[in-house]
Amino acid sequence: MEIKRENWGSKTGFILAAAGSAIGLGNIWKFPYIAGENGGASFIIVYLICIGIIGLPVLTAEILIGRTTQRNPVGAFYKLSQSKFWAGLGGMGVVAGFLILSFYAVIAGWAIGYIIEALNGNFYNFTEATSSAVHFNNLVGNIYWMLGYFSLFMLITMIIVFAGVQKGIERGSKILMPILLFLLIILMIRGVTLEGAETGLEFLWYPDWSKINAQSILIALGHAFFTLSLGMGAMLTYGSYMSKKDSVPNSAIQIVFLDTFIALVAGIAIFTSVFAVGLDPAAGPGLIFHTLPSVFIKMPGGYIFSILFFVLLSIAALTSAISLLEVVVSFFVDELKWKRHTAAILLTLIISLLGVPSALSYNILADFTIFGLNFFDLVDFIASNILLPLGGLLIAVFVAWVWGFERVLPNLKEGAEKLFEKYPAIITTWKIFLKYFSPVLIFLVFLHSIGLLDKILNLFTGS
Ligand code: PFF
Repeated sequence: MEIKRENWGSKTGFILAAAGSAIGLGNIWKFPYIAGENGGASFIIVYLICIGIIGLPVLTAEILIGRTTQRNPVGAFYKLSQSKFWAGLGGMGVVAGFLILSFYAVIAGWAIGYIIEALNGNFYNFTEATSSAVHFNNLVGNIYWMLGYFSLFMLITMIIVFAGVQKGIERGSKILMPILLFLLIILMIRGVTLEGAETGLEFLWYPDWSKINAQSILIALGHAFFTLSLGMGAMLTYGSYMSKKDSVPNSAIQIVFLDTFIALVAGIAIFTSVFAVGLDPAAGPGLIFHTLPSVFIKMPGGYIFSILFFVLLSIAALTSAISLLEVVVSFFVDELKWKRHTAAILLTLIISLLGVPSALSYNILADFTIFGLNFFDLVDFIASNILLPLGGLLIAVFVAWVWGFERVLPNLKEGAEKLFEKYPAIITTWKIFLKYFSPVLIFLVFLHSIGLLDKILNLFTGS
């Protein structure tokens, strides 16, 4: 007997869940530090262009594949192509879901652990950024601290996915996303009203083009993928619970808007604060965990704001982790006929086991390296730098060249009649971007990710 597939209860439910997937550690932890390292405003402009010409078209394509087929990634590509090769592309997405969640939950665990640090007022013991870095290293060096918060985060993620699409994911997103937005806006207001905030704003508004090079463009493009949860079927899976009455392009535009808005607001909140107390904006991945605690203790009301900040970070991570687990669960439920509850529990256990060596990469396994990377970095590299861009490239190629626009367009138009009547040029633009721009540009990112692009460029420049 075919079990009836769940659907989102409302259009807003879908938008909030998908925006929840997109908005995550990528926006609040990663975006500010890569923008800080790559020249601020100029990097942000390049990033916005990447989001517009690649992120939006590929996001539309992914949601559309899901909504048309109402399947998990593997089933979806198979249904449209009847080919095992393309079903394998969906399989790659499921594998990426396993891998990304296993290390994503490690950092999410830090965010939860830092709520407790903030509540205990521990940041006040460390007045310098260097001493809060030492404190951070002590915490991640403690395997009980690491594994404890990691497991707690995995457990919360599991409970929500266990509860189902409407009762778990949709309900959770409807509660958590408004809280996230509210907290972030409070933090932004706190940042811009600090004395000396202008230097932070200047850093974000005035481009310094000398910082832009091939490397930073590729970082921007790669991040556009990660931040929109593209290339591994998360948006496809969420799209598969979407009603045919709703418009795919309108939804994609709203998701991109929310994701970009949050990244920019997070950037403003963080840089105004960092500059106001005279710290280094290019502090790298430690920006949030080393630098911010010493920023909070110097600002009025810092105790409360530090708690709010790490609650915000944990919520953002949670709504993204849910989508990662849902990709994997939906595959086991649809294709292997597992029950949702069994799938949620067992798969969480397996992903948690896979995450243990990543968590231990910061302490007892720190010296264990493969190809010069520790376990955490290796899994991150395989998933974010290989599987996601390759997935994104193949999805664009699939829609444009395999599924074919004559079959794609009637599906795209369903629910979007009004939009296309008003702006018919959107279709042509989407087709061109998906057919040519996206595959070529993503291919370049991909080559860069695996280090080949530099070698090829060197061949031409003779260096
Ligand atoms: N978009 C998330 C972030 O910016 O943190 C990360 C992510 C979630 C990537 C879900 C991929 C995914 F399927």
